[in-house]
Amino acid sequence: MKNRKLFSLVFVSFFVGATSALSVAAGASTSEGSNAEASPVFGVTLPPGYRDWGFVSVAHEAGNNNDIRAILGNDVAMKALREGTLPFPEGSIIVRLAYAYVPSERNNAIFGREQSFVAGTPTNVQVEVKDSKRYASTGGWGYGQFENGKANPSVKIINSCFACHTKLPAASDLIFTTYSK
Ligand code: HEC
Repeated sequence: MKNRKLFSLVFVSFFVGATSALSVAAGASTSEGSNAEASPVFGVTLPPGYRDWGFVSVAHEAGNNNDIRAILGNDVAMKALREGTLPFPEGSIIVRLAYAYVPSERNNAIFGREQSFVAGTPTNVQVEVKDSKRYASTGGWGYGQFENGKANPSVKIINSCFACHTKLPAASDLIFTTYSK
């Protein structure tokens, strides 16, 4: 009996040890930015729980994108947006979820005319992370783009982010979206 207890104790601690060693290893590889989860150039990863973050606003791009977007922020970013604090504080993260912009046959059938457009298939998720030291050369923001949870590996695409956002006046802290009440 005593032996069995000892055995399960040893077994449980081995198991716990092995799992934490695994998660440490996983954490190390994400922060290096050289895997499918981290975007090139900035090493930005998809922030855990971002889908449940606060609502900032929506946007619709016509033309080639033809999408509809929801912009969400983590708690730090939401507080800054609500209070109009600029520049954004360290640790602010803003995500932009884009979906195909599609007519809704089901809704239109009920309205009796073509007027309803809704979010179709997800296209991509873009992320902006504020870290003034790490991203000093790009206005304090790191950029990433994800499709189906995987980082877009294109350096060209990732370099286009700052190149466009930096066209905004510096006072905007390179963020286009404003908080919709
Ligand atoms: C040609 C210009 C352009 C490029 C390139 C661009 N953006 Fe943006 N971005 C915008 C505009 C305009 C908005 C606001 C309207 C919208 O969302 O359509 C925006 C909004 C955002 C937002 C919501 C917060 C904000 O700043 O308003 C995020 C997050 C974002 N972009 C990330 C990225 C990332 C990541 C990339 C690169 C993969 C990127 N953007 C490339 C123009 C651009």
